[in-house]
Amino acid sequence: MFDYISRLFYDFAHEKYYFNAQILRDINYYGKEQLKQKCLETYTELFHLENESELSNPLQILKLFSFFISSFYTYDHNNKKIPKLDISHNKYLEFEKLYKNLKRRFEKNHLFKLLDMFEGIKYLLDNISFDVRFENANLELLLETAIKSRFNKNYNNFRIVNCKKDNLDYLEIDCYCLHIIIEAKNEYYWKNKEIIVNAIERHFKIRDGKNEIQTITFKKSYEKIKSIHYLYKKLPQPLNCIENGINILVNPDGYSKTGFFIDNRNIRKYLEKNSEGKSILNLCSFTCTLGALAKKSGAKEVINVDKEKKYIMLGKEIYKNNNIKINNYEFVVQRIEDYFKKNNGKRKYDIVIMDLPEIAAIPCDFFDKEKTYRDYNKNALNLLKSGGILITSCCSHGFSRERFDKVIKEFIDEKKYIKIDYNFDELDDHPTDKNDIYSDYLKIYGIQKLN
Ligand SMILES: C[S@@+](CC[C@H](N)C(=O)[O-])C[C@H]1O[C@@H](n2cnc3c(N)ncnc32)[C@H](O)[C@@H]1O
Repeated sequence: MFDYISRLFYDFAHEKYYFNAQILRDINYYGKEQLKQKCLETYTELFHLENESELSNPLQILKLFSFFISSFYTYDHNNKKIPKLDISHNKYLEFEKLYKNLKRRFEKNHLFKLLDMFEGIKYLLDNISFDVRFENANLELLLETAIKSRFNKNYNNFRIVNCKKDNLDYLEIDCYCLHIIIEAKNEYYWKNKEIIVNAIERHFKIRDGKNEIQTITFKKSYEKIKSIHYLYKKLPQPLNCIENGINILVNPDGYSKTGFFIDNRNIRKYLEKNSEGKSILNLCSFTCTLGALAKKSGAKEVINVDKEKKYIMLGKEIYKNNNIKINNYEFVVQRIEDYFKKNNGKRKYDIVIMDLPEIAAIPCDFFDKEKTYRDYNKNALNLLKSGGILITSCCSHGFSRERFDKVIKEFIDEKKYIKIDYNFDELDDHPTDKNDIYSDYLKIYGIQKLN
């Protein structure tokens, strides 16, 4: 049943709308008013639920889903759903209150699967109501509060705005050696770009007494084909900047994010201190910055594996820029699944890094995702020498910390591994809300194989 609901969310998020057929069928069968009544009854029923096993009928959740979601949509004369908002700000607040009450109930009764599904409902609710929530938002003040809180940090590369936790959903702003990159997943920010640019410029002036910003780039991630716009001078591409003493190359055009993941900062710190003389496998290496840093920090050997040739090629350039000797065998263009098969545990490493791409982008899209994470981690652990360390990450917005912890705990319970005490995923320029799965996207742990 949970898989069924999970599919429903997946369909919704990928605009397939199969779920809609079910809602329409219900509307036709019951009539709109009666359906609403049924939805309310379901709400009350779930409110009093004490055990998940009592939830026998997926339609209960479906009704809850329609209760929260379908009321925001209107239908055209062919009964086809039109993704047009039919919600006021007050209505959103009313729904949010209902949502919070039910969530508290689920938490109290440890109904974790229901909580997972509920995160999905909240995600969609927030998504659908973005326009009304931001209708009268004081964007200037929100930006100001976020930017101010980041400017006392002493980093070359840091995050200025981190989406939800800054109350700026779908907005990320990063600073790379005084080059600003804005990435927005909603058109609202493009329409208000002057306010954003002014807020950033003002703060650099306050900080430095002069405006030191080199370039400002806007990446529109809400379009099917992402586009890049230069708001203030053109960004040199790739851009050369310094991080942990190495030259990295940043390139937002054609690369995922900017070609460089600021949020791997604590992995970089770890490698700087712990790479000396080690053999390292960097799975899903992207542009091999972790590999370059490990090499600079004395690693004996680093094998970088990524399925994309152009990322590996940029990785070689980064090595060249840093005068690191390039051994071609250390750059592997391959899917890690094939690497696992070919290697089959024959070659072992002191450190394995596995920074997987996002596997579940939205909450509640957990159909089979647990198995996927389990399999990848099992294979990666199999490549460790005794005493070796796996640094494994889950950056899926839709796969909760509880779920990832559960997968990791299964390995720890085998008593062959322990979790090391190192804080890989807390970053002061990436504030997150631990109660919000979408906000708490970055989960990174270190696991050591016992001797
Ligand atoms: C989150 S990024 C890794 C970032 C990297 N840790 C860094 O510090 O820059 C994920 C990478 O995984 C790669 N990838 C995704 N699926 C893969 C697969 N099945 N096999 C190998 N690489 C994969 C992507 O091409 C992407 O470069």
